[in-house]
Amino acid sequence: MNNYAVEVENLTRRFGNFTAVDSINFSVKKGEIFGFLGPNGAGKSTTIRMLCGILMPSAGSGHVSGFDIVTEQKEIKNNIGYMSQKFSLYHDLTVTENLEFFGSIYGLEGSYLKKRIKFVTDLAEIGSRGNMIVSKLPGGIKQRLALGGALLHDPEILFLDEPTSGVDPVMRRNFWEMIYNFSKEGKTIFVTTHYMDEAEHCDRMALVFAGKIIAMDSPVTLKKTLPYKVYALTVPDFIKVFYTINNLSFIKECAIFGSNIHILCEEKFPLEKELRKILKSGNVKNFKIEKIHPTLEDVFVMHAAH
Ligand SMILES: Nc1ncnc2c1ncn2[C@@H]1O[C@H](COP(=O)(O)OP(=O)(O)OP(=O)(O)O)[C@@H](O)[C@H]1O
Ligand SMILES: [Mg+2]
Repeated sequence: MNNYAVEVENLTRRFGNFTAVDSINFSVKKGEIFGFLGPNGAGKSTTIRMLCGILMPSAGSGHVSGFDIVTEQKEIKNNIGYMSQKFSLYHDLTVTENLEFFGSIYGLEGSYLKKRIKFVTDLAEIGSRGNMIVSKLPGGIKQRLALGGALLHDPEILFLDEPTSGVDPVMRRNFWEMIYNFSKEGKTIFVTTHYMDEAEHCDRMALVFAGKIIAMDSPVTLKKTLPYKVYALTVPDFIKVFYTINNLSFIKECAIFGSNIHILCEEKFPLEKELRKILKSGNVKNFKIEKIHPTLEDVFVMHAAH
């Protein structure tokens, strides 16, 4: 038996001369929550669309639920749930009408359709809103309804393309609880995001940048295996200081995080001592240097730069 929900080999998609997805390789085990983390234009949606049987690869191969992404796109569409980046709901229909419509696409009807609508509206905690017109719903509820729609036909794998962008943090948390509940049933989830904190919810993740996978592992391992130590520098005029220290040879990477500067350097280097010296001689005042645990963003910055 095949233990993989998704497997791809040298998957590539070009648009004209431009390569949006550049020969990527990965697999997702059944039951895993797998994240695709990367900035705008990294190739996340293009990858997900190839996996969902919506877009043809230019080269390479892949299987989803055992079906070939080039020759069995129809089977794939019937066996997966897909929530696109601009989730598609009919705004002038009610919650129930939307779900009935999704159900009809997958050939669900009668008492089974009713049962599934009840299941997803309970899961999304929108059961009492069945008769509400979608345009009147708050954004977070619309998003959960869209997820419910993708789950209606009880797929084994769920593909979510930036499902929580533009949603407030409380709603994001609710949404992730819904994803966990789905995952507990042994289902597989493939989710793209550009939120670093959100990627922490995944069992495993690929960091994607300019069409390539630059690192792949569990969030904990990615942070633990970072070959540098990380410091946070807090200083009032942080932008000016950033440009002053950015090119110092002992600083491997340097990035602005809110109003802090994160600095990566070799394990053995006495950073605190050296940096204090430099800042003092530059007449920089009121700064604080602290060694911190690396964040996923530090990991990303490090891999994207090398
Ligand atoms: N149909 C298309 N024709 C031409 N270029 C495209 C097409 N679709 C995507 N691209 C380009 O491919 C690159 C990757 O796009 P993609 O939508 O996969 O990125 P993404 O990681 O999903 O980004 P975002 O976070 O903005 O959603 C971008 O530079 C985009 O402009
Ligand atoms: Mg996208």
